[in-house]
Amino acid sequence: NLMDKGNYKHFMAKEIHEQPEVLGHTLSRYFDYSTNQARVAGAEHLNFKNLSRLIVTACGTAYLAGLVSKYWFEKYARLPVDIDIASEFRYRETPVSGQDTALFISQSGETADTLASLRYCKEAGAAIGAIVNVPESTIAREADMVFPTIAGPEIGVASTKAFTCQLAVLAALALQAGRERGVLSAEKERELVAELTEVPSLALKALAAESDIVKLALPLSKADNALYLGRATSYPLALEGALKLKELSYIHAEGYAAGELKHGPIALIDENMPVFVIAPHDAIFEKTVSNMQEVAARGGRIVLITDARGASESGNAAENVVIMPEMSDIVAPIIYALPVQLIAYHTAVFMGTDVDQPRNLAKSVTVE
Ligand code: G6P
Repeated sequence: NLMDKGNYKHFMAKEIHEQPEVLGHTLSRYFDYSTNQARVAGAEHLNFKNLSRLIVTACGTAYLAGLVSKYWFEKYARLPVDIDIASEFRYRETPVSGQDTALFISQSGETADTLASLRYCKEAGAAIGAIVNVPESTIAREADMVFPTIAGPEIGVASTKAFTCQLAVLAALALQAGRERGVLSAEKERELVAELTEVPSLALKALAAESDIVKLALPLSKADNALYLGRATSYPLALEGALKLKELSYIHAEGYAAGELKHGPIALIDENMPVFVIAPHDAIFEKTVSNMQEVAARGGRIVLITDARGASESGNAAENVVIMPEMSDIVAPIIYALPVQLIAYHTAVFMGTDVDQPRNLAKSVTVE
């Protein structure tokens, strides 16, 4: 029974643990493993080849999936992305025309602002794509082309498995766009797809960090504030970490691009401030380490989420390290979402909040 918590205490825990499996389902729908190519049925409606920019719009956690995709579309497909929160997009009178393509991301397919943004773009004649988890939803019906996430029903109010499945679909779209635009070589595409096939097993390995995360959650449940930092695709993950912690545990948290530290949040750092640094060992790792050292020098208490190489090259600024498996750049935001979700989940469990239905929040925001 899909509506059953199984052996889990909360739907959210169940949904976090379903990710290796549902990511496998979603990826196998959008990638052809016999040729190691992205194969997105209906992508021709998005006209990737001739676009000068792609419009991406969503709310909440789905918006943060869109923000990750900006890095991917720009890097792998040289396609500029205009991304905005739906409640801003719908009112800012942005020019949209029949030459445009707009992509909407929504778990429920019913979010009022996302739907209104879709209708705005449709009215302007743009081609409309939608990434949704509920295939019979309004957004799915009104889009020209639907790219479903195969996450299964998501009951917990805070989105988890739908988010990582949205990322899987967006990765496929970005590689498809790269190929169609002639900027992603067949060889590079094969390499990236081969890396993405590792996602389900990497997700399983990431979940093995849960017992370490439980230990961090107890002291965190006593904090009043927390800060999350990351660069590149780890920046949207930092925003997601802060969003999840606020939603579930009611601890005030902020996510920042690590490079913005000096432009404000560094003033908040003292020995009472837990700082989560999301930093896979990638090309920009050193930069994040230097931000981390700035935090440590001011007494901030750092939890570093990285891989073994990152841990060994990070000096001793971090008080705690959550170790992720080694992985390539394109899979990192999908896999690093898991520890971020687990941190918020276990902190909320310690605090005794209503994890599946946090106060004041709704699963689907169908009114403005
Ligand atoms: C609510 C939920 C979030 C979700 C957001 C967007 O705020 O609590 O988890 O990310 O709505 O919902 P959608 O269904 O459009 O993805």
